[in-house]
Amino acid sequence: MEDFKRASEILYKGEHARGMDLKKPETLPIFETTAFTMNSLSELAEVTADKGWTYHRTRNPNRAALAEAMSYLEGGEASLIFASGMGSITVPMITLLQPGDRVLCNANIYGETFSTLRDVLGKMNVQTDFVDYLDMDAVRAAIKPETKLIYSEVVSNPTVKIADIPALAELAHKNGALLMVDNTFTSPFAIRPMDFGADIVINSLTKFLNGHADAMGGSMTTTQELVDKIRPVSMLIGTPGDAFSSWLILRGLRTAELRIPRQIKTAEKLAAFFANDPRITAVNHPSLATGRQKELADKLFGENGSTPMMSFVLPEDIEKIDAFMKALRFTRYAPTLGGLRTTMSHPVTSSHFSMPDEQRRKIGITPGMIRLSVGLEDPDDLIADFSNAMKVFG
Ligand SMILES: Cc1ncc(COP(=O)(O)O)c(C=O)c1O
Repeated sequence: MEDFKRASEILYKGEHARGMDLKKPETLPIFETTAFTMNSLSELAEVTADKGWTYHRTRNPNRAALAEAMSYLEGGEASLIFASGMGSITVPMITLLQPGDRVLCNANIYGETFSTLRDVLGKMNVQTDFVDYLDMDAVRAAIKPETKLIYSEVVSNPTVKIADIPALAELAHKNGALLMVDNTFTSPFAIRPMDFGADIVINSLTKFLNGHADAMGGSMTTTQELVDKIRPVSMLIGTPGDAFSSWLILRGLRTAELRIPRQIKTAEKLAAFFANDPRITAVNHPSLATGRQKELADKLFGENGSTPMMSFVLPEDIEKIDAFMKALRFTRYAPTLGGLRTTMSHPVTSSHFSMPDEQRRKIGITPGMIRLSVGLEDPDDLIADFSNAMKVFG
């Protein structure tokens, strides 16, 4: 065989390292490759017919492995993996809704989901009716013949109020609409919304399911039929998740069952602790729910517990809130949620900044409100730390 030049040879070295032939590596390797090569046109035809690996944006083994895990966790037929939670929200909507259709959405919703519906779908002449889902009579009254999609998070942000998923599913199906549910705050370890009639479930994998605050991704789980419709649009718009993020998230998922239920338990302990402090004027967590919300919590979450997310209201004194934040050993402000460490956010200056104060107050969001994403610290350490920082309020 002729000696080729180094410039050529270096491109082909290391191709046959152990593991590359996939004879059973203990962990699925990261397929950080833009494409898979073919030796002939007949091989290409075979791979294409089999829906095998071709181009990264079309199909990738790490994305497929993560999709399989998400279908299992959510109890759906098939899943798609996106570059972010927002991809998993926007792409199904763009695919399934036509100009003239309407969406019915919980008024208490993640700000960027609100903006997607108002600005992106609005531009496509798909209008949205935003209604407070705590009032199911108002929800029933808002449905129109053009309503093709009902949308909600399982629990609202940051007031952590539970949506009546079974009633929403019934309403959707009676009116020829689909129910799409965001399970990010709750996760399939608390509830599988499809068991309660949801047609499409999305998760921002950036949050609790990856759980390590180091990768972005989103999943959408539904029927094979809907996945087959949505997949080509995701591919064309350029939103599929990449191999490395998918690999990281799948690694995170392997231990989610050890992490998330523990985070939920710690949130319950913290909620009980805050509820006992007279300086704190409100605490929002489903473990403290009463009346209809308690019935819903029991029905939807049962023994699982609900969410590691909670919020509480401090006295409205920004200087003292600053001092409280600085006094904490563990919890830091971070504009995200769902990591290993407890983080806090301030809805009035972040997620609900653009909402007028009067409207915010109506749904219980005041300048004293702190939203917590509870992590894996020892619960007694967290309580001791918050207890110490609360001293700034006298
Ligand atoms: C409830 C909820 N859904 C969806 C998203 C969007 O997820 P991502 O940031 O991964 O796009 C977020 C982000 O904070 C969220 O809180």
